[in-house]
Amino acid sequence: MEVDRHKMNTQKLIATAGALVANDKGLLAMDESTSTCNKRFAAAGIPQTVEARRAWRELIITTPGLSQSISGAILYDETIRQKKKDGTPFVKVLADAGIIAGIKVDIGAKALAAHPGEKITEGLDDLRERLAEYSQTGALFAKWRAVITVGDGLPSRGCIDANAQVLARYAALCQEAGLVPVVEPEVLMEGSHPLARCAELTEEVLRSVFTQLYAQRVTLEGMILKPNMVLPGLGCPTQDSVNVVADATVTCLRRAVPAAVPGIAFLSGGQTGELASARLNAMNARFRSGLPWAVAFSFARAIQQPAMEIWRGNQADAAAAQQAIRHRAMCNQAARRGEYTAAMENPPANREPQAKSAA
Ligand code: G3H
Repeated sequence: MEVDRHKMNTQKLIATAGALVANDKGLLAMDESTSTCNKRFAAAGIPQTVEARRAWRELIITTPGLSQSISGAILYDETIRQKKKDGTPFVKVLADAGIIAGIKVDIGAKALAAHPGEKITEGLDDLRERLAEYSQTGALFAKWRAVITVGDGLPSRGCIDANAQVLARYAALCQEAGLVPVVEPEVLMEGSHPLARCAELTEEVLRSVFTQLYAQRVTLEGMILKPNMVLPGLGCPTQDSVNVVADATVTCLRRAVPAAVPGIAFLSGGQTGELASARLNAMNARFRSGLPWAVAFSFARAIQQPAMEIWRGNQADAAAAQQAIRHRAMCNQAARRGEYTAAMENPPANREPQAKSAA
């Protein structure tokens, strides 16, 4: 009986993980904590209220045609309990559209004791109970983000291994509850380090994460990895080309991510929407046929940001904002196929007339 239950649960996890990366779709991260969402709202001149956050999230999930490019949406605790203005729960809106609901379950990165400048992500307390509740609400997958800071003498071994172990314990609890864990170890872009340093650290972090996932008996076939791309630091004087980033990222992942993992869904980490799409595209265009896992996306800013700047809290601009969300989602789906081009960003109707641009 116990064996059958375990087998059925594993089959469900594998099916969900497969569905999250099927048909060249990807994930839409809309799981900003209240403080992160408020910060982005403040920058765009949007009031930082529960109602504004609810309205923004309603706008996102009611984007016409969203499910053609988006397989799953990652929600936040506040959001998963919210409803459309007409009273329909967000989770039902997503289910009706054929989009799988996910939930961020970590409670944020806090200072790691005895490791100045480094963080450990918290949220394991009561996680089993919270996962059971989210599962009942309709979530089929979860997300946990660990952050690794790059700097002088950073990151430390202690920080890497502590975060890797917590990610693995979270992932095991998710699978026990029937939720697919999205495992997100993020090497941050802040810093002036070159791409080679990010490559070395990302590999080290991923090796530690997969060692811990194995130790905690996580079924790799029933999870999704959400890593950073391998990039030079934001302050590095050499900003490498799209192809160099794609090659370094794929090389790193090939070394450190077991073939049993069904999908890799990148975070965008503050890259512009266009760059994130171009880099994802280069990975798929150059390597897709030779990779064991799907190379997909799980972007927040790289999908939401242009739309938020159009909306700025004005309902009159909601349709244009939805168009911008749909556009970025479609660009990323094209990037999964290796079919994204810069021309997609500038359709003929929006182009400056020839004579004017030549003047
Ligand atoms: O945890 C981070 C988000 O899920 C991804 O956000 O694409 O803006 O880095 P981002």
